[in-house]
Amino acid sequence: MLKSLRARLFVGLTAIIVLTGVIGGTFAYLWAYSEAIEMQDSVLIQVGTFALNASVRESQPVNGVDAEAEVAVIELGTSPRGSADDRNLWTLPDGLHNGVYRGQPIRLLLRTRADGSRFAVTQRTEIRTEIADDMALRTLLPIVALVPCLLLVTALVIASSFRPMVKLAHDLDARRGDDIHELKAAGMPSELHPFLVSINGLLDRMRGMMEQQRRFIADAAHELRTPITALSLQAENLDPREMPPQARERLNALKSGMRRTKHLLEQLLALARQDAVQATVWETVSLDEIAKEVVADLLPEAAARDIDLGFRMAETVAVSGDALSLASAVRNLVENAVKFTPDSGSVDLGVYREGEMAVLQIEDTGPGIPPSDLDRIFEPFFRGERPTGEGSGLGLSIVKRIIDRCGGSIAFENVNGTGRSGLRATIKMPCKSNP
Ligand SMILES: Nc1ncnc2c1ncn2[C@@H]1O[C@H](COP(=O)(O)OP(=O)(O)OP(=O)(O)O)[C@@H](O)[C@H]1O
Ligand SMILES: [Mg+2]
Repeated sequence: MLKSLRARLFVGLTAIIVLTGVIGGTFAYLWAYSEAIEMQDSVLIQVGTFALNASVRESQPVNGVDAEAEVAVIELGTSPRGSADDRNLWTLPDGLHNGVYRGQPIRLLLRTRADGSRFAVTQRTEIRTEIADDMALRTLLPIVALVPCLLLVTALVIASSFRPMVKLAHDLDARRGDDIHELKAAGMPSELHPFLVSINGLLDRMRGMMEQQRRFIADAAHELRTPITALSLQAENLDPREMPPQARERLNALKSGMRRTKHLLEQLLALARQDAVQATVWETVSLDEIAKEVVADLLPEAAARDIDLGFRMAETVAVSGDALSLASAVRNLVENAVKFTPDSGSVDLGVYREGEMAVLQIEDTGPGIPPSDLDRIFEPFFRGERPTGEGSGLGLSIVKRIIDRCGGSIAFENVNGTGRSGLRATIKMPCKSNP
């Protein structure tokens, strides 16, 4: 049993077309064959009528009749004479007969003139069937030509009827994992509408679940933030000078654990916030200003590790977006660059315009990202196959969501061999003409 609906339709319709062709062709052939035989009889009758008035003295093909038809008139005289065959013919009554003449089967018409002389109009049976066969086969030609054309048209109609289904599957496949917008029914065949309604219902339920999950994460992070802040304060209030060295070590571990937990909660909240923002009214923001503020914020941290953090190019470029989110995206990227660059390295930023696009590039002298990790780098909590340093693995997920929402793109490439190695992050966003 064929599993594909398309194949089933094609096989079924092909069988119908071929069967119709065979039955129609057989009937057309038989009908045309008997018509051709009748037509040849009527030729014999016409020739007979003509020969009634103008006697033909010798057995000869008749002028005006297709030579290939081999219609001939045999004069039999007024009494049986001549060859045995002639005498045999003479004994037959007037009219159409099948007979044998000179050892060959023939069709003949016998007539008697007013003066009593008789004649036979003859045609070889073999020639008659050949002509009839030929004419009947010709009637088959249109059918034989039509069947493949019909099969082709059927295949095209089936393919075009199924195209919306194939397109729908492609559209669904091409969707990003988090794209749960409902499917449009416009332009879809009515048979697909029940599926679309079901799929949209499912997407709607998924949207609800994702929203619930997002709210749970945001609430949990929010609820945890207060006690963690309180605990941090308590830890800060402890005076390490009054402690024995072992307890001091433990206090430091505790403080760094608190810092990491606080950072994780902040990142979780930031991610949940980005997921929640649907449509914001975009403002015109200056990308270079945002980058400068972020760099100024992180300068002390970079300086503490002797990292040269600065701009190699800073053109004035305006983009549309929300300033807070964009600042958070740029901060996450620069933080990564500083974090993964070894001491005494450098982090260079470039902000410039490239045609209609605003470009922000951040290049560091760190280890870069292994190519095998590049595909998964935007997944939440992914910190590479061999995680190094501190981090929650949420930074780039937040960045990606922000840049996507602003209609931009982000790409990473490892820079090697040009006297320096490291990672280059490039953000491209549509430019806004008036800063
Ligand atoms: N500039 C970089 N150089 C080398 N590796 C990087 C760089 N930026 C990101 N990575 C790799 O990508 C991973 C994910 O980065 P991401 O910013 O999402 O998380 P994180 O920095 O570990 O945590 P968080 O940003 O929440 O502090 C990092 O753990 C690191 O392995
Ligand atoms: Mg990060």
